[in-house]
Amino acid sequence: MKLFSKKQKDVTKQDLIDALRFVQNPTTEKDIFESGIVNTTAVCDNIAKIVVSLDPITIKFKNKFKVEIEHQLRKLPLKEFKVEFLDPVPPKPKAPEASAKIKNIIAVASGKGGVGKSTVATNLSLALSKKGFTVGLLDADIYGPSIPLMMQKTGVQPEATQEGEIFPIENYGIKMMSVGFISQPGEAVVWRGPMIHKLLSEFFSKVLWGELDYLVVDLPPGTGDAQLSLSQLIPLTGAVIVTTPQDVALVDVDKSVAMFKKVNVPILGVIENMSTFVCPQCGHEEEIFSHGGGEKAAFQWGNIFLGSLPLKTSIRKSGDAGNPFVLEETSEESKSLFKITENLTKSLVK
Ligand SMILES: Nc1ncnc2c1ncn2[C@@H]1O[C@H](COP(=O)(O)OP(=O)(O)O)[C@@H](O)[C@H]1O
Ligand SMILES: [Mg+2]
Repeated sequence: MKLFSKKQKDVTKQDLIDALRFVQNPTTEKDIFESGIVNTTAVCDNIAKIVVSLDPITIKFKNKFKVEIEHQLRKLPLKEFKVEFLDPVPPKPKAPEASAKIKNIIAVASGKGGVGKSTVATNLSLALSKKGFTVGLLDADIYGPSIPLMMQKTGVQPEATQEGEIFPIENYGIKMMSVGFISQPGEAVVWRGPMIHKLLSEFFSKVLWGELDYLVVDLPPGTGDAQLSLSQLIPLTGAVIVTTPQDVALVDVDKSVAMFKKVNVPILGVIENMSTFVCPQCGHEEEIFSHGGGEKAAFQWGNIFLGSLPLKTSIRKSGDAGNPFVLEETSEESKSLFKITENLTKSLVK
């Protein structure tokens, strides 16, 4: 604000302080100097600058301070003055207990892609949450992360603490982390193995999961070295294998089982997805990919068959829309999934 153009008596810093002592801070009933909220008092060539730091309480009096400070400054022969306020910086959310406790870590795996692993991982997480458990969902599928889309959280970025701990993204009551939250589509595929490993171990150790009953891990498809070492990075309680019922897919179940045996990860059971096609128009059931293969494979390996899910357009649509199908609890597929969840949790720590 411009006041006088002619050269006046030089105003000193002490003059400013003396003038501003008339401005009270109602939260402390002391003047603004004594209460320590004046950040800067500077004057040079009769141009003054005052900066006041506000906190979440004093911010309510910003206008009062402005009016009163300006009123006091006008009494001085200043050419110009500037009154600025520093608004309170929202405090960084405090990191929850570092000693995150996760009771059960369940990998959802498959020998190949496209069998419905992410669909199962997503809906299983929600079914567990609906049963009253605290659940996290870790998308370890670096090559094709689909959890952000399936959980309706595309385009969001996780926040981190100053110490580099990462806050999970949350939706439908599920805490999540995915490479999809930190990379552009298509970017992840060019990552090298060691980077992927570093990232995944950080997803496990640096994400502030807090206390969880279950952490569901959506593993990348395949049974090669990459999957093998990934399943060693995280202390898995066990793995659930998703398959479609046709014989060619079942060969992959054998490979998955063998892979987990190598690293001593117990197989918690097999889920058969896309089991029977139910026509949305007439309700007619068609066994497009055959039926019962998952059960046969589970039996062959001495594993538990957890149940099957039908092949339904509504399952695909709900996945694409980011509305996991178990949100609508009464559908046939939801009932099947709740049964699968019950079979799975029977043997695990509650
Ligand atoms: N039971 C099902 N009925 C219909 N579509 C399904 C079913 N399971 C999965 N899908 C669809 O198949 C595609 C592949 O499933 P996804 O879960 O991404 O497989 P993966 O993670 O094994 O690659 C997705 O479009 C998904 O919506
Ligand atoms: Mg997937």
